[in-house]
Amino acid sequence: MGLQRLAHVDVIVTDLDLATAYYTEVIGMLETERDANSVYLKCWDEPNHHSLRLIYGPRVGFEQMSFKVDREDDLGEFENKVTKYGYPVRRVSKGDHVGQGESIRFETPSGQIMELVYDIEHVGRATSSVNPSLTVEGLKGIAPPRLDHVLVTAEEVGDSAKFFEDVFGFRTTEQLLDGQGHQSAVWMEVSHSPHDLAIVTGKNGGLHHFAWWLDDWDHVRRSADVLAYNGIQIDVGPTRHGITRGNTIYFFDPLGTRNEVFTGGYRPDPDFPTITWTEDQIGRAIFYYEGELNQRFMNVHT
Ligand SMILES: [Fe+2]
Repeated sequence: MGLQRLAHVDVIVTDLDLATAYYTEVIGMLETERDANSVYLKCWDEPNHHSLRLIYGPRVGFEQMSFKVDREDDLGEFENKVTKYGYPVRRVSKGDHVGQGESIRFETPSGQIMELVYDIEHVGRATSSVNPSLTVEGLKGIAPPRLDHVLVTAEEVGDSAKFFEDVFGFRTTEQLLDGQGHQSAVWMEVSHSPHDLAIVTGKNGGLHHFAWWLDDWDHVRRSADVLAYNGIQIDVGPTRHGITRGNTIYFFDPLGTRNEVFTGGYRPDPDFPTITWTEDQIGRAIFYYEGELNQRFMNVHT
């Protein structure tokens, strides 16, 4: 029983055509389906129906984060655990959401909507499953192979971290402590990566960014070229995080949602001892080379 990985992120956009053009032409995701108010996108190396859903709405926002569970039975078991923890759970039937089967949805202690799903439609990778080529011709833009992680904001990071640890078995790889020893940010994993989910202090319900995985530093460098060529606003980087040790670029989509490309870091075992950073080192913790955060860092959408 457990969570396997981040399955998809659903964001609200005020211009579906503009957002779709950016996520397909600049990021290089592939459109798999669209309906009356949504566009569904996946990365070239992802077999599933979508890892990003763009939903048309009146203001830019964060709809939900969806995680895939290991087994079908896990949905019922997590439904019980979340309910016992004090958060109401809603069942979403097969057929109600495009590209996936039955799921459960609930609000987390920090106000984000979280979904758990087992049955996700397979549409296949861009490469063959038999004797595949290692490169794919005709990809546009950055062309990340897959979605990697999501970072959300919480007024009480410690309470939120406890929920994710106790209910879902997330392991905390790193934490940032304030002067009183309270957690002001945590990085948590279920997939033996430095983080599948991070939570930083901020308003409840917020999305700070979501990130795609790149295979190496050279791809990060080429991503910066793509972003600059297309006139995309780069927030920070290319640089390196002290926390996770990953290489990164933060940038914004045309509607203001922060994106990231990420690579590197370590592979934590289940008994990986949590790394602690202290408040006086917050600059190096987040951006190791710059050693400081910019003014925009805490701008989030809810
Ligand atoms: Fe990130």
